[in-house]
Amino acid sequence: MTTIPQVTLNDGLLLPAVGFGTYKLNGAAGINSILSAIDTGYRLLDSAFNYENEGALGEAVRRSSVPREALIITSKLPGRHHKYDEAITTIQESLFRAGLDYYDLYLIHWPNPSKDLYVEAWQALIDAQKWGLIRSIGVCNFLPEHLDRLIKETGVTPSVNQVELHPYFSQEKQRAYDKEHGIVTESWSPLGRANKLLQDPDIKQIADAHQKTIPQIILRWHVQLGAVPIPKSSKPSRQLDNLSLFDFKLNDEEMQKIGRLSHADGRTYNQDPAIYEEF
Ligand SMILES: NC(=O)c1ccc[n+]([C@@H]2O[C@H](COP(=O)([O-])OP(=O)(O)OC[C@H]3O[C@@H](n4cnc5c(N)ncnc54)[C@H](OP(=O)(O)O)[C@@H]3O)[C@@H](O)[C@H]2O)c1
Repeated sequence: MTTIPQVTLNDGLLLPAVGFGTYKLNGAAGINSILSAIDTGYRLLDSAFNYENEGALGEAVRRSSVPREALIITSKLPGRHHKYDEAITTIQESLFRAGLDYYDLYLIHWPNPSKDLYVEAWQALIDAQKWGLIRSIGVCNFLPEHLDRLIKETGVTPSVNQVELHPYFSQEKQRAYDKEHGIVTESWSPLGRANKLLQDPDIKQIADAHQKTIPQIILRWHVQLGAVPIPKSSKPSRQLDNLSLFDFKLNDEEMQKIGRLSHADGRTYNQDPAIYEEF
């Protein structure tokens, strides 16, 4: 089985350098896919209250032969429950749905700046961490101005910022901000949700040179950037491919070539957190 390197979060939690995305993995089929991912070697598992699959994730964890303590299990607070009391109840509901005593990582899913409640939500995560419901707390889709406010108003810096990141949208500025503040960037849609990125001719050239697949080159690029990709696949053979990233390296020229594919409007679904909100 592949040994996955780890990165250390600002609170000491060790995060595998690659994780597993679970959006659209629901019900019995979802349990099977998540179980196969754990068997393949994934230890960082991503989910969200809004994916409606915390139950499937918890069931896969119980059916797996891997001890629960060896897994880093993530969920996320939805935008409609940012008010402090609702956020606390939602974290508890997330745990009940999964049948878990604690989450390893719990993230605010979107900042929803027009509602201006994300600092309140953050205070709820801080308290839930103190009470032992969550080991590490972070955010998703937070821009520098949102992170500045969390840090200034609560004194607590998120451990993780999970953002859209792939070669067509490389998030150079956000990654630099995160790094400067000791926040680990996780990459959502690291494969661009299998859009035209997976046919890109420049990446294909690099893949051929290494005798690897295009997804492997893309995911290796994330790892070398220091970002933690969480690719989703329902298929065991792809799950294995997406984890087999640690027997080769991209050189500087290859990293730069992939970096040059990024463009300002490269988001897959135009979800700019300054204006896009999700509840
Ligand atoms: N925080 C947020 O706001 C946010 C937003 C979006 C996503 N996420 C998280 O990030 C995770 C990953 O993002 P994502 O699911 O949007 O997209 P993704 O991981 O970039 O792409 C998933 C798609 O790629 C296909 N795929 C995976 N590996 C492949 C391979 N080796 N070769 C060819 N096709 C492959 C999958 O198909 P098959 O399943 O058929 O293999 C699926 O259609 C999500 O599952 C979720 O956990 C978070």
